[in-house]
Amino acid sequence: MTTTDRFEYDPMDPETLADPFSAHTGLRQQCPVHYYEGFGENGFYTLSRHEDVVDLFKNLDRWSGTFGQGPIYYQEGGLRSDPPEHTTYRRLVTRAMPARQVPAMEGVVRDIANGLIDSFVRKGEVDLIAEFAMPLPVIIISKLLGVPEERGAEFKAWSDEFMAGQNAADPEVQGRARAKIDGYFIEELRRRRALVEAAGEGTEVVGTVLPDDILTAVMLAEHDGRPFTDEELLPLLLLVLVGGNETTTSLIGSMVARLLDLDLWDRVVGDESVWDVAIEETLRYDPPVLGLFRTARGPQRVHGVDIPADAKVQGLFASANRDPEVWDDPQAFRLDRDLVELRAKQTSFGIGITLCPGAALARRETLIALELLGRRLPNLRRAGADRRVASFMMWGRQTLPVAWDTEPG
Ligand code: HEM
Repeated sequence: MTTTDRFEYDPMDPETLADPFSAHTGLRQQCPVHYYEGFGENGFYTLSRHEDVVDLFKNLDRWSGTFGQGPIYYQEGGLRSDPPEHTTYRRLVTRAMPARQVPAMEGVVRDIANGLIDSFVRKGEVDLIAEFAMPLPVIIISKLLGVPEERGAEFKAWSDEFMAGQNAADPEVQGRARAKIDGYFIEELRRRRALVEAAGEGTEVVGTVLPDDILTAVMLAEHDGRPFTDEELLPLLLLVLVGGNETTTSLIGSMVARLLDLDLWDRVVGDESVWDVAIEETLRYDPPVLGLFRTARGPQRVHGVDIPADAKVQGLFASANRDPEVWDDPQAFRLDRDLVELRAKQTSFGIGITLCPGAALARRETLIALELLGRRLPNLRRAGADRRVASFMMWGRQTLPVAWDTEPG
């Protein structure tokens, strides 16, 4: 009846974790709708072909985004990815989010990146993830959210705890981390609202009484003639905090590792005209998020396979990005691809109404990282084995030891 058991795919298997892409090729060719039993009570389905992955995220009549983006089924999803709730929330996201602020952020990103490099440049060897690729997005997002620098480490710990809960499918761990993050924002929103009230009606508060950051923007935003409630704001703030950190770290780490391994680093560093393509090709080839989940609205049939109502279904961005139906020579990392086509077809920032609003910022951070690491760490090379991030849904490096030539004396 089904074609789900023709190809063995265990996303948690150590070999698959080390190289998910080979498994994806098998899935696309032999088992485009795969059922995996090994997760929780109900397991989950996986779609791997480009057109099916696009349908999963775009066809809102068939697939819902409300019950969590991971394999756990949440009755009350935090993401609000279905209209009409998503429409309201997205309006808030686009008001608050950095796309329009990215050019203004350029100097800040550059200063933070240079400061991080300053701290280790004389050593000649470093774990690039721990000392650069991880702190860079965390410091930037904390700045955007108005988190004071001295609380940055605490924030990072909460965000890591939240991700660990998600990865271990442990709603309790995730809930605890979420409560801490929510607690901080509730308190800070209360403090800022009191400042607005004290300033009196009609006073221009942005940039005077209140800092000009995302938190102020969302706090002052209105819809249907009223401000957003804390209940509406908290899931957004959480997503901005946890959504942009590990992903950007992975993009920077994968780009450096891939270019070094393919002996392309020096060539790319020396030719500014290929920087954008190098970043976009890294996104296609090494997506920080391998795949995300949606939930079946009622029974669905895909390629002759019956998927029951409420089943969790994973759409593999990583596999869509290497589908030979859509890409020439998909298994090769190439710098001669067309940038416009790459941007239009790679799916690593998501698809449809939930397309990542942080994409412009992530690309810019990575571009600045490429430029500054290239300029300041001559003869960059690997200095030992790296380690993969733990989650089967994510792809990137937890460690990346590198070395470079330091100036004599
Ligand atoms: C390379 C870095 C990044 C990658 C690969 C990435 C990936 C994604 C993906 C795949 C989605 C779609 C989620 C879904 O459909 O369920 C998404 C959404 C989102 N991302 Fe990113 N992201 C990155 C960076 C960022 C940054 C830097 C921020 C914040 C500053 C951010 C904030 C968000 C938010 C708020 C959403 C939800 C949008 C919505 O629901 O409408 N992301 N991201």
